[in-house]
Amino acid sequence: MSLNYGIIGTGMMGCEHIRNLKKISEVNISAIADPNENSRQWGMAACGEKFKPQQYNDYKELLKRPDIDVVVVASPNFTHIDVMRDVFETDKHVLLEKPMCTNLVDGLEVLEKSKKHQGIVWVGLEYRFMAPIQSLINHSCDIGNIKMLSIREHRFPFLEKVDDWNRFNKNTGGTLVEKCCHFFDLMNLLVPSKPTKIYASGGQDVNHLNENYNGKKPDIIDNSFVIIDYEGGQRAMLDLCMFAEGGKYEQEIVLTGDKGKLETNIPGSELLLTNRKEYSFKTLEVSQDSRIKEIGFHHGASYVEHLELINCIKSGHKPLVDTQSGFNSIVLGLAAQESITTGDPIYLEEFLK
Ligand SMILES: NC(=O)c1ccc[n+]([C@@H]2O[C@H](COP(=O)([O-])OP(=O)(O)OC[C@H]3O[C@@H](n4cnc5c(N)ncnc54)[C@H](O)[C@@H]3O)[C@@H](O)[C@H]2O)c1
Repeated sequence: MSLNYGIIGTGMMGCEHIRNLKKISEVNISAIADPNENSRQWGMAACGEKFKPQQYNDYKELLKRPDIDVVVVASPNFTHIDVMRDVFETDKHVLLEKPMCTNLVDGLEVLEKSKKHQGIVWVGLEYRFMAPIQSLINHSCDIGNIKMLSIREHRFPFLEKVDDWNRFNKNTGGTLVEKCCHFFDLMNLLVPSKPTKIYASGGQDVNHLNENYNGKKPDIIDNSFVIIDYEGGQRAMLDLCMFAEGGKYEQEIVLTGDKGKLETNIPGSELLLTNRKEYSFKTLEVSQDSRIKEIGFHHGASYVEHLELINCIKSGHKPLVDTQSGFNSIVLGLAAQESITTGDPIYLEEFLK
């Protein structure tokens, strides 16, 4: 069975999807849509000789095509809600890039509508599919009862985007939504309990301070500490710094149980497993998924994401990364942003009312 794709938004991430899809034999890309002529040219260049898609200025024209089975939504965060409203008028499968939406109301709408949608609705939280993280997930039963999770991301500043959309919270949902929904998704996966309280401190201290867009200065934070408390007594913490490029690792993850702990790094190929009783650790080699044919910007995770989505489409199984996961990841990001703004801890039950 071959699948016909349409790509909505052919900037950086849309082109990344095209390069991944090019390596999957049963895929054809027959349409791309982007209002920006340059971006459409990037999309065509990424398609190369393999695909000859029809180009559209308006994604609604692409959605009218009955021959398109799957759409990839890689337009800016603030456009996701409108694009999804139109996708829900079709029966197409969709890979919606993260973050699902930029606010709770829109997130709830996508969550509810996805439950009635004919096609699969998959959210692009592909960090789960990175080999070191897969390995950590698989070994999480080796460390007893999980008590603590620490995720550190120390990386480069936000890149420049088409029309500079990522410089403003109203377009992105805020740094902790835009960037960190990936890490909150991992917390939701790894900590076996319900998050109840979140408190965060953060600021814009180094990046984009001298930038000006039609008289407006960027308002996105570039560093933060976020702490989450769970119903079962566990704790998770995020340490984000976006003026820390040049280091060996971008992400460092430590999951601690009452019998031991697991540590891994990205990029990396090792998982450290510490055993408290034996007062020792061992190093486990992490091997890449042998199916990966495109490493891309996300260490092969986007390729695995596409293979798994196609498996779900073919088998009729539910998506591995569904809109509930997409929603839960933005809830934590939005609550953390709110905590920074108010200076108060945010109780999630109240926040969701
Ligand atoms: N999963 C990941 O790790 C990851 C990484 C990067 C970006 N993203 C997500 O991908 C999305 C796109 O980000 P990007 O980095 O490619 O940004 P980008 O600015 O490089 O590209 C966005 C493109 O969307 C186009 N666009 C704007 N409005 C549109 C509309 N209504 N219909 C169709 N196209 C439209 C723009 O012209 C631009 O070409 C964002 O949601 C972002 O958060 C995900």
